[in-house]
Amino acid sequence: MKQLVLFASGSGSNVENIFQYFKNDSNVNIQCVLTNNKDAKVIERCQRLKIPVLYFNRMAFSKTEIVLNTLKAFNPDLIVLAGFLWKIPESFVHAFPNKIINIHPALLPKYGGKGMYGAHVHHAVKENNETETGITIHYVNEYYDDGAIIHQAKTTLTVEDTPNSIAEKVHSLEYEFFPKVIADILLK
Ligand code: GRF
Repeated sequence: MKQLVLFASGSGSNVENIFQYFKNDSNVNIQCVLTNNKDAKVIERCQRLKIPVLYFNRMAFSKTEIVLNTLKAFNPDLIVLAGFLWKIPESFVHAFPNKIINIHPALLPKYGGKGMYGAHVHHAVKENNETETGITIHYVNEYYDDGAIIHQAKTTLTVEDTPNSIAEKVHSLEYEFFPKVIADILLK
């Protein structure tokens, strides 16, 4: 059985989507969801879906090795960042080489890097009158949004699109492709 650990900082719609995709798959188990935000809606989702969830603060994440040691204890086959806003420490990347992936709501390398998350991304895409946007699923290294790209998917935009409609189009790509890419990596 392949073991999966997810990180999330916010709503957790991707966490729920990934859970639903694998819930009847006896080959994949979501061990735990880890969050750095004690008010994150993802916690409520995990309680409803009966997924173990752990909250951690900066002390546990990057000032000590508590979260790193917790991950080592889980020994996951894959660590998935599903809307996680903190940069991953180098120690995590070295401990889990090519085992940490992230989804970014734009076509990297455009619209990536520190501060480019959520609505900030869609506002920038709109401001620049882009005719397309999409998602990027990539391996995580010690820099924001910089690791090897695994998969990208695109959607076209029109002048009528707003940051909210762009977000909806991007979310639908995330829900379609993220679980499939995870399955490809885990079960290849
Ligand atoms: C998604 O848009 C994802 O691309 C980005 O963070 C957002 C998370 O949304 N990394 P949710 O918390 O899964 O609803």
